[in-house]
Amino acid sequence: MVVRVGLVGGSGYTGGELLRILAVHPNVEVTYVTSREYAGKPFTAIHPHLRGFYKGLKFSEVNVEALVEKCDTVFVNTPHGVSSTLTPQFLDRGLRVLDLSADFRLRKPADYEKWYETKHPRPELLDKAVYGLPEIYREFIKTASLVACPGCNSTAALIALVPAVEQGLIDLERIVVDVKVGSSEAGIKPSLGTHHPERANVMRPYEAEGHRHVAEVEQELSLLAKKPVKVALVPHAVGAVRGALATAHVWFLNEETDENNVWKVYASRYAKEPFIRIVHGAPFRYPDPKYVVGSNFADVGFAVEKRIGRAALFAAIDNLMKGAAGQAVQCFNIMHGFDERDGLNYPPLRPA
Ligand SMILES: NC(=O)c1ccc[n+]([C@@H]2O[C@H](COP(=O)([O-])OP(=O)(O)OC[C@H]3O[C@@H](n4cnc5c(N)ncnc54)[C@H](OP(=O)(O)O)[C@@H]3O)[C@@H](O)[C@H]2O)c1
Repeated sequence: MVVRVGLVGGSGYTGGELLRILAVHPNVEVTYVTSREYAGKPFTAIHPHLRGFYKGLKFSEVNVEALVEKCDTVFVNTPHGVSSTLTPQFLDRGLRVLDLSADFRLRKPADYEKWYETKHPRPELLDKAVYGLPEIYREFIKTASLVACPGCNSTAALIALVPAVEQGLIDLERIVVDVKVGSSEAGIKPSLGTHHPERANVMRPYEAEGHRHVAEVEQELSLLAKKPVKVALVPHAVGAVRGALATAHVWFLNEETDENNVWKVYASRYAKEPFIRIVHGAPFRYPDPKYVVGSNFADVGFAVEKRIGRAALFAAIDNLMKGAAGQAVQCFNIMHGFDERDGLNYPPLRPA
């Protein structure tokens, strides 16, 4: 079976990454890709890495009717606030949608309004969207018509924390996460804080109080824990182009918990996950985004400090892959009954 795929927002970083993955996907024909700025131009006008692929295809204007006619499934890669008006139009006409923006990640309209400071135009859809983290929602993604792909910081934080929370290993009142993330997380358009002279070599905390990704991390951990979970999360902009590393500082409920207990919980929880690798033992002792770049893998590890009953839980991802386009394609594969690894079955780059 070949699925006809459209991209709304094909000229940005996640759009470019989706096109890279889908170029070799065995069950996909890319039929419609939008960019208002590059409409009428070939993809290589902004994506030089795609030279030799997609010959004859050009960017188009955002035209809902044309997308509906030419596509079965659409990836929406626009800034938040745009997808919430476009996605309902696709759903109303029977298309399936994977939204990479934040517009459908929060289940409650009041939460969306609080964190995104605007009313959701189609609040009834929030409850129907499936949060696109296959490690939790694989069964629901299979039949979803709308998948809300998680943020990159949230993906890393959740993958680091899910087994410990599910198994009741840690104190849910004290979860402190810091995330280091590369510059491509900010998208393709430079701003004062993100253009090269300002961003290169930084180690800069940002949105240190109330980053919006906190909302989805708390939402998902609370659902797993079946009670409200509060999380302190501080992202840090670092000089890398790709990569996100979450370090979750947690305290055990049982002071006897040791490395062996944690190892067993993580190894068994993620044993069947095609894109989770447990990192344990020298010489590369802890997860490092450098060793997942270009791939959909999340490397997970931990450091247990038994002396004070705490652990640091780590997850390293490529923000454009497991943190965005790769995870979206993983969900797409699940939705369509394909092998989850289709288009994604390769090791990371090294050196990167
Ligand atoms: N970068 C990451 O690591 C990452 C990770 C996870 C999730 N995300 C989320 O994924 C989405 C895309 O991120 P990105 O990094 O690819 O952003 P980007 O590089 O800035 O690209 C944005 C894309 O959206 C299009 N667009 C912008 N405004 C539009 C509008 N009003 N109507 C139609 N198209 C519009 C742009 O094309 P034209 O302006 O030419 O139309 C462009 O193709 C964002 O919501 C972001 O938060 C990003």
